[in-house]
Amino acid sequence: MRHSAVSKISSAQGRKPAFQPIGDPISIEEFAADVRRGLTKDGQKELYSKYLYDDVGSALFDVITTLPEYGLFRADARLLRRHSASLAAAVGRPSLVIELGSGSGSKTRWILSELAVKQPIAYCPVDISEAALHRCWLELGYIDSVSIIPIAQSYLDGMDQALRLRPAGTSVLVLFLGSTIGNFDPDRAREFLTAVRHALEPGDVFYLSTDLEKDLNRMIAAYDDPIGATAAFNLNLLARINRDLGGNFDLSQFRHEARYDTRAHRIEMHLRSTRNQSVSVGKDLAVRFKRGETIWTESSYKFQRHDIRELAHATGFKCQAQWVDEEWPFAQSVLRVL
Ligand code: AVJ
Repeated sequence: MRHSAVSKISSAQGRKPAFQPIGDPISIEEFAADVRRGLTKDGQKELYSKYLYDDVGSALFDVITTLPEYGLFRADARLLRRHSASLAAAVGRPSLVIELGSGSGSKTRWILSELAVKQPIAYCPVDISEAALHRCWLELGYIDSVSIIPIAQSYLDGMDQALRLRPAGTSVLVLFLGSTIGNFDPDRAREFLTAVRHALEPGDVFYLSTDLEKDLNRMIAAYDDPIGATAAFNLNLLARINRDLGGNFDLSQFRHEARYDTRAHRIEMHLRSTRNQSVSVGKDLAVRFKRGETIWTESSYKFQRHDIRELAHATGFKCQAQWVDEEWPFAQSVLRVL
């Protein structure tokens, strides 16, 4: 593994190599097992939000990032552009940049070019969507002194693989942008940060983006836009089950819903069944839905600035700097490994 990855770095300095991500994305068996568990459990039916990102879902997410209502994306991009020099100064001279959940990676160009001025760097985008990684590779592949090593894997496994490429004695910058951490429940977020902390070394930097709590109408509109792009993104999960697992969901009998839980500080996306119905998935799974019953497909937690500092301190990081966008309340935090 190590050798093939390293030879990819050196060949990137000559001719551009073919797109060939490392890693193995989620298997169909695992998807089937999670769908079965989520749709047959007692009480609230649930599907994991990571399954929103097949090729179609990743393309729809790229559309969402262009919506005027989805202010998160531009706030993240603005902050990265404005503060890339300070971030580069804060991390010193990393030779390896890892981005967890890169998607097509368009926000990352600023910081990569900034860092690559000092020395050549390797950039490892980690994502479960190979289609998104391919777009990332096309988009960022031309930056001078940056070699891209795409990793098609879940966050922590992908990060472990990427960290094997760390040249001895150098520091690593890990990017977790887009407020993707908001998909985790608070306990899982703490576990996740703890795991990241243990995989890293003193001096490494974890750069974390988080969407901040704001006016209710703005938060809802970001997840229930007027042209229905987010509805399509959510409903695509049922279409994916039909395509990949032989399901027979009738998409016209489910409706996208976005609501805000003020106590838990999270947007929830649901798919609401508009009638009593029975759906089959493959040969041996049948699921009944009552009229009005929902499948919970995603949580997006919204934060206060101090939440992030507390989370950082509780998991072995020091919050060295924090930048906030004024137009769309959103924070980026430089978390240094102690
Ligand atoms: C990519 C997980 C950050 O939660 O805001 C966008 C996904 N869901 N619209 C988010 C999403 C609905 C997004 N993240």
